[in-house]
Amino acid sequence: MKLTSIFSVSPGDVLSQTIIDAKGNILLREGVVLTQKYINKLIDLGILYVYIKDKNLSDIPGQDLHFLEIKTQAVKALNKVYSRVHNVSNGDFKETLKTINELVEYLIDNKEVNFMYLTELKTYDNYTFVHSLNSCVVSLFLGVQMAYSKAMLIDLGAGTLLHDIGKMKIPQSILNKNGKLTEEEYDVMKTHPEIGYEMIKSMNSINERGKSIVLEHHERYDGKGYPYGLKGNEISKYARIACVSDVYDALISDRIYRRAFPPNEAYEFILASSGTFFDPEIVDLFRNHFCVYPLGIEVKLSNGCHAYVIGQNKGFPDRPRVRIFKNEEGKEIEPYDINLVEKINVCIENIIF
Ligand SMILES: [Fe+2]
Repeated sequence: MKLTSIFSVSPGDVLSQTIIDAKGNILLREGVVLTQKYINKLIDLGILYVYIKDKNLSDIPGQDLHFLEIKTQAVKALNKVYSRVHNVSNGDFKETLKTINELVEYLIDNKEVNFMYLTELKTYDNYTFVHSLNSCVVSLFLGVQMAYSKAMLIDLGAGTLLHDIGKMKIPQSILNKNGKLTEEEYDVMKTHPEIGYEMIKSMNSINERGKSIVLEHHERYDGKGYPYGLKGNEISKYARIACVSDVYDALISDRIYRRAFPPNEAYEFILASSGTFFDPEIVDLFRNHFCVYPLGIEVKLSNGCHAYVIGQNKGFPDRPRVRIFKNEEGKEIEPYDINLVEKINVCIENIIF
């Protein structure tokens, strides 16, 4: 499978990934031959990247269907929680907790393979809860790397899923504004952590560790965040983890007011913000366990050749294994694989969308 921008897809290309919408419904199934009508529909829905079949990449595994199923269930359950603007109850959250449990088990059981899914680019439209789900997966991944217990992971997952619930009470005109917020509007926006905390404060199915994420996910390590300007260890560890996953997912998502950053630029931003925005210990974890380039994406190498990313090297997030299929003159060649960890004189120059 090849990961490509929706704008580079042509009628006749075969989808190698099932696409679900923000309500958890299946839009298109794996194996569907794309028509111009389907492509236009996906563009309308804001789906920017799709996996399609490619003759050079038939040995590269597609998505794990079990993982997709868990995420679909989670999206459905969350939809319900986020629609209860006024009063989120323990009952509403029960189903969500069940899916968090499944997510946690999946990530613990699949420690070695899971990191490739985390850089999966947005293939749903961008509702707050889809962003929350993706942030949750990244938080849990980091928590697993920190050897958190299952109970701790569930709190971390639950808190990250609910981190932006307070935005449900922010006026749509501010939330979806096409352009920069005024100072007054930004002040209103900044109330969402406290509003969210009020909304979930009395829920006993999530404990204080989880709730701290809702209240403190916009605090910064250097003390310049909000609502309280907490610094370093004053911010709960859970919120410090969620802060990294929230920002990472926000950067790789398309927003109304700006295009998404490519994953390599989002990754650089996280690294560059160590000690200011983020806890350096968590940024180190992120660097050591993350992969920058998703499987199946086309890249241009520093020697001028074009290649697809076909495998990751743990600990070397920007030096994956690649399959070269075009030479430096742009001519298609018989594909061959190289490992960028071994070929240190070659690096990735940029992503080709
Ligand atoms: Fe937030």
